[in-house]
Amino acid sequence: MFGRRILGGLGIVVYASLLPVLSIHGAVVDPKVLDACSGYSATNVKTAGATLTADLALNGDGCAVFGPDVKKLALQVVYETKTRIHVKITDASAARFEVPESVLPRPSAERGISSRTAAIQFNYTASPFSFSIYRTATKEVLFSTASHPLIFEPQYLRVKTSLPTNANIYGLGEHTHPFRLPTDNTTLTLWSRDAFGIPVGTNLYGNHPIYFEHRTTGTHGVFLLNANGMDIKLSNVGGTSLEYNTIGGILDFYFLAGSTTDPTEVARQYAEVVGTPAEVPYWSFGFHQCRFGYNNFVEVADVVSNYAAVDIPLETMWTDIDYMDRRRIFTVDPDYFPMNRMREIVDYLHTHDQRYILMTDPAVAYLPGDTYAPYNRGTVDDIWMKAPNGSSALGLVWPGVTVYPDWFHPKIAQYWDNEFKIFYSPTDGIDIDGAWIDMNEPASFCDLPCTDIFEQAIKQALPPPRPHPPPDPNTPIFVNKTISKRDLLNPPYTINNAAATGQLSSKTAFTDTKHFNGMVEYDVHNLYGTMMSVATHDALLARRPGLRPVVITRSTYAGAGKHVGKWLGDNMSLWEHYRFSIAGMLGFASVYQIPMVGSDICGFGGNTTENLCARWATLGAFYPFMRNHNIDTGNPQEFYRWESVTEAAKNAIDIRYRLLDYIYTTFHQAHIDGTPVLNPLWYKYPKDPATFSIDLQFLYGDSVLVSPVTEQDSTSVSIYLPRDIFYDFKTLTPIRGTGSTVQLTNISSTEIPLHIRGGVVLPLRVQSAMTTTELRTHDFEFVVAPGTDGTAEGKLYIDDGVSIVPGSSTEVATKFRNGSLTVTGKFGFKTGVKTSRVRFLGVSKVPRVVMVNGRPVAKTGVTYDKTTQVLDVSVGLALAEGFTVHFV
Ligand code: NOJ
Repeated sequence: MFGRRILGGLGIVVYASLLPVLSIHGAVVDPKVLDACSGYSATNVKTAGATLTADLALNGDGCAVFGPDVKKLALQVVYETKTRIHVKITDASAARFEVPESVLPRPSAERGISSRTAAIQFNYTASPFSFSIYRTATKEVLFSTASHPLIFEPQYLRVKTSLPTNANIYGLGEHTHPFRLPTDNTTLTLWSRDAFGIPVGTNLYGNHPIYFEHRTTGTHGVFLLNANGMDIKLSNVGGTSLEYNTIGGILDFYFLAGSTTDPTEVARQYAEVVGTPAEVPYWSFGFHQCRFGYNNFVEVADVVSNYAAVDIPLETMWTDIDYMDRRRIFTVDPDYFPMNRMREIVDYLHTHDQRYILMTDPAVAYLPGDTYAPYNRGTVDDIWMKAPNGSSALGLVWPGVTVYPDWFHPKIAQYWDNEFKIFYSPTDGIDIDGAWIDMNEPASFCDLPCTDIFEQAIKQALPPPRPHPPPDPNTPIFVNKTISKRDLLNPPYTINNAAATGQLSSKTAFTDTKHFNGMVEYDVHNLYGTMMSVATHDALLARRPGLRPVVITRSTYAGAGKHVGKWLGDNMSLWEHYRFSIAGMLGFASVYQIPMVGSDICGFGGNTTENLCARWATLGAFYPFMRNHNIDTGNPQEFYRWESVTEAAKNAIDIRYRLLDYIYTTFHQAHIDGTPVLNPLWYKYPKDPATFSIDLQFLYGDSVLVSPVTEQDSTSVSIYLPRDIFYDFKTLTPIRGTGSTVQLTNISSTEIPLHIRGGVVLPLRVQSAMTTTELRTHDFEFVVAPGTDGTAEGKLYIDDGVSIVPGSSTEVATKFRNGSLTVTGKFGFKTGVKTSRVRFLGVSKVPRVVMVNGRPVAKTGVTYDKTTQVLDVSVGLALAEGFTVHFV
């Protein structure tokens, strides 16, 4: 029996048959109590090919912790590929919210799959129902709900798995925890939030219910395709465990086998489910400058000129909401940012091979009866999210009271596209090169209950307009409806939302707000940013058909990387946030499949310092997305403001640009199959436990080890070098890693320690440039850095850098064996540049003879330095066909 009780004072509605033994405070229920629930029994189990189905019937009255238990569930298990099992548990009698296929299309199952050949296996116990996933090869249990009964209620679902002690878990973001998650009493809450200052342990902007677990015996992944608000709890009490507590949706798990040898396999398998990242244009890897608080067009233009004056390459200038008229989207302030002067800025940038990006927020100023066309057009189309009474749902954002576009509305794409077409028109609007989308959690500044503000706003709107057009006169009425009995505003299980008051609707759209087709914000909140991303991506594409759109968003859900890149939101100018940026970035670039990522360089909130900004300029050069940005109330922090920062930025951008084709090649591979763009050290040294928690060093691509100085005013850093061979990036001298830490000293604030990991042939441009357009006119060199077995390999991918489907491409494979480098491939894209030289590292003695394409190279074309062990060979051949370089 369950009883419905109201805990006085707390105002919390609690269902609980076990109330006397429940320890309920907010949403905290003693896990032992949950583990004592009677769960379900599997009956009617059927297997057909790669599919197993069963009915799950509630045992007795169930548990009723946060509502009545659903009596009958349907289980479906499908071996979809050799490495993926899909386990889906739904209410057998009623439809529940599922992430729409339009947001995340489901991966298709391969034919001919059977459990006999699968790398992981599903196993179950009928009563109480529990299931486990184990690795076929090793019989290791990877996931097991045994002793943790399933709980499935209208507004509370719970699944718990036991894990190895202190398991190595990565993912479950967005959060500010270390990359390797603490397993001790850690709650990860997934509920999009405008999270100024990105406080540790709180829910942030994005939601990625995927984790990778690594053991020395293998790496696997678990993706719960559920977008409802949830707490995922890691605990070491009574053995390490991971527990999902979600307030809606269904249980839709994808188990990914990963691999016993190569951790990056699991990343590729996750990409098979959520999609591979969008290919981004070459220029988007250039350096970007932004800030909130450029007061007028003169200041914006000044920044561009100042960068040029000190020779720091500036690829893209950005402008925040400052340009808008009263912060209304799709407008310019006629006095501070007049359209003609904005157009002049764009023209200037474009003629100098530079770009311009502007901010577009989702919220549209609520101005009934006014002449504000974006509001009026949207009102005619009736595309705003709706309050339960059918009027437009209101929020409070930068322009004051606002409405929110409903990304589920069938007319929304056309609306958004049209606004982009008008305002960002190349002929009489602002011809932007990319879009920056923000506040798309969606954010609202209003503290609950917000009514005063809205009432005032509504009164001011005279004459009171009807919020949307009349219904079709033939609309059928008195149709059968299922009225949701869910409490959409204050569900019985309270997730650990860090927004003020903790309620779901705090600082965002109300969770009883309706979307098209009856969907409610309660279910789709975590998808808002991704849906805006898709609409924005498509609007940019419509403006420039065939060209890769650049969209940088704040809020993301699983799969967003197919469309957009992401910045890590409102960090602070703190050393702690400089350090954290690496873990944050690794989450997106090596787990969530959103590799175009970076955090605000020098910090967003507060005031930066010269030392911090200099170090951050060097670290930021190894973020895939490199942008300096700060708050309107902070001191200016463009790199040219301090001499040391200028030098640091120049040095670091110089290296970044020379490496740009290497990283572009890595992105291309990520786009093809989801291979990570950044690698935590353990991805490459999976058997070395010392690497598992390292998140202050990382690999840029596969092979460039980045080890920044991490402490204020320090000039040294203690770095870990696994048992392998490395080469100092600057001197190119070999260093033997012994699986221990190495102290690096005397690192000036303008430098960043970098090492090449042995085993790679690194393609580099021979020199950097002021723009990426110029960079593409410079020749290449190959740096051959042999691994411990004396061999090295690499790749180079080049295309026009902008087209979604490039007409041609050059795809080069490089291989070094026994003193011989072979460069082969197809050379379809005409680069117009040469391979100017090849440098061989770790050459222990001067060679007798060096040959290019079998012909000895003149003495003047070869230098050998016995201190650094670098053999430098001039090549001078057009990068239009294969060649060999050989030495003995
Ligand atoms: C919040 C964003 O996170 C920040 O980057 C931006 O500057 C402000 N909104 C103003 O648009």
